[in-house]
Order: sequence, then C-alpha cells, then structure tokens
Amino acid sequence: MKRIAVLTSGGDSPGMNAAVRAVVRKAIYHDCKVFGVYRGYAGMMDGDIKELNLGSVGDIIHRGGTMLYTARSEEFKTKEGQLKAVENLKKHEIEGVVVIGGDGSYKGAQKLSEHGIATIGAPGTIDNDIPGTDFTIGFDTSLNTIIHSIDKIRDTASSHERTYVIEVMGRHAGDLALWSGLAAGAETIMLPEVEYNMEEIIDRLERGAKRGKKHSIIVVAEGIGSGVEIGETIQKQMNIETRVTVLGHIQRGGSPTGFDRVLASRLGAHAVDLLLKGKSGLAVGIENNQLCSTSFDEIFSKPHEIDTKMYELSSQLSI
Ligand code: F6P
Repeated sequence: MKRIAVLTSGGDSPGMNAAVRAVVRKAIYHDCKVFGVYRGYAGMMDGDIKELNLGSVGDIIHRGGTMLYTARSEEFKTKEGQLKAVENLKKHEIEGVVVIGGDGSYKGAQKLSEHGIATIGAPGTIDNDIPGTDFTIGFDTSLNTIIHSIDKIRDTASSHERTYVIEVMGRHAGDLALWSGLAAGAETIMLPEVEYNMEEIIDRLERGAKRGKKHSIIVVAEGIGSGVEIGETIQKQMNIETRVTVLGHIQRGGSPTGFDRVLASRLGAHAVDLLLKGKSGLAVGIENNQLCSTSFDEIFSKPHEIDTKMYELSSQLSI
C-alpha cells in the first residue's frame, strides 16, 4: 500500500488533530503518500481531497477541533453516494483510508471496505460509547472540561445554598455523566443505562438537607431527557430553589489533554500499521493500555455498556 487517505467525520472531538498528525507522519515514515479528505464523507463525494506533507500537520497536536473539518452526511448512506466517493478515491489512486470518528462514521467506513477500499476506523468522539476500546479520543478532555465547569458551579451553589442540575452530553451513553459526576462529587448521577426513580432521588436530597447539606449537584446525561424538566420537578416536589446548566458544545472544544494526545497518536499510528499489513474492516482501540483492533461487525453487534461497579461506587460515596 503506497497511497493512504485520512478523514474526520461526525461530531468533532479534542485530539482528532493529533490523530490526523499521527496518521500522516506514520504513513510518510513508511514512504507512503498521504491525502487529507476534507469535510468527512461529504468531501469524499465532492472530491475535496488534497495531498498532505509533514508540514501540513505541524502545529496542530495541541489544537481542539479538526483541521480536516467534519460533517455528517446523509448522501453517503446511499449506494450512489458511496460509489461517487470511491470513484474520487480511485482518481487519486488511494488504496487505504483511516476514518476518525464515532459509530456513524464507522458505518460509512464499513461500506467503503465493502466497496474494496481498505478501511480502518479510529474512535474519535467525546461520548466514549464505542465497543472495542476502553477510551475514545476526546473523552478525557471533555471530561475535564465538565469537571472544571462543575467545580465552578459548586462555588456559586454553595454561596447561594442551591440545588443545581447540570446536563452533560454523551448522546445515548452515560460515560461523561458517570465519570464527571464521580470526579466532581455529585450527589446524584442520572444515566440512560440505569433506571432512575425520582422519589428515591428526592429522598436522597432530603436526607442530605436534614443532615445540614446546604447545596447539591445533580449530573444528568442528555440521554435520559431534559435537565430543565428534572430541575423543575425537584423544585416543585421539594419546594426549593433549583438552577439548571446545560453545558452544551463547550464540552466538545479546547486543547486536548495529555491523555488524549497520547491516545490519538498511538491509535492513528496503529491504524496505519494495520493498513500496511493489508487489513481492512477493523477499528483500532486500546484495552488495558494495549493497542488492539476489532472488526466493524463485532463493534456493531455489541451494545455499549457502562462500568456498573463505578456507578455503584458513585452511589456509595454520595449517601
Ligand atoms: O457525539 C458527540 C455529540 O457531542 C453528542 O454528545 C451530542 O449528543 C451530539 O454530538 C451533538 O451533536 P451536534 O453537534 O450535531 O449538535
């Protein structure tokens, strides 16, 4: 394999740039030509493809977002769209592609491999919801952004003796809520993976108030519904003042943490190694700090799971 392309797709995540840099530099190290596909699959269908060199990926390892831009494409889900994209890759004689993105991007990557283009996925999403890896690129940075935000909210919650509901991202997954809730000492964490009982939550808050607790923090994963509605319910049922913060896209930006930069560098380079070994239809990951790979079929057949022991611990520590 002598000509490799790289793209980022779906929601951006901090560390995607570090992964692009790793793909480009590792491929050039092995004497390959590397091409950047801009705007994900949309750019692949439009032929927005340019050769990258060592300098193209200089000065980006510390930047959030993605220098290749990103998009979510409906057209690429159609066979016509896919064939258009494959034709553009063939024009550049591209034999292999590294797709950096989440599960939607992996579906596209699988299609590319079925059309005869060797394709390897690398997990780039803040949601940490992809089977076949312990961590996705961007999760740690986003987690730290949330923790810093909750720490700040705690200061004002404590001054005003208020109960705060903080809604965090994660799409259908509760990892960001669980990890940030545990790390920021939240009284309650509400996740899509664990059924909740509003009465129990109110009981817990009331027990805390009786013990003299002046403020409370409740972290809500967006996957269970609206933080605003949960805040209103608590306000009504407990007759207390609540405030709600929806952290929103602030969670997707910022300079990647050291962990994300190292993870992205390792995974990007591993993806190139797999292409050079003639592999396709796989996604790279990290399990117990070891690089690994899993077929797209296996990834799609496994449900995302949260660490239930960690959830139990968070409940035990916030009695
Ligand atoms: O998948 C990443 C993510 O940030 C999710 O956590 C969130 O639900 C979604 O993307 C938001 O998407 P958009 O940027 O299109 O609003």
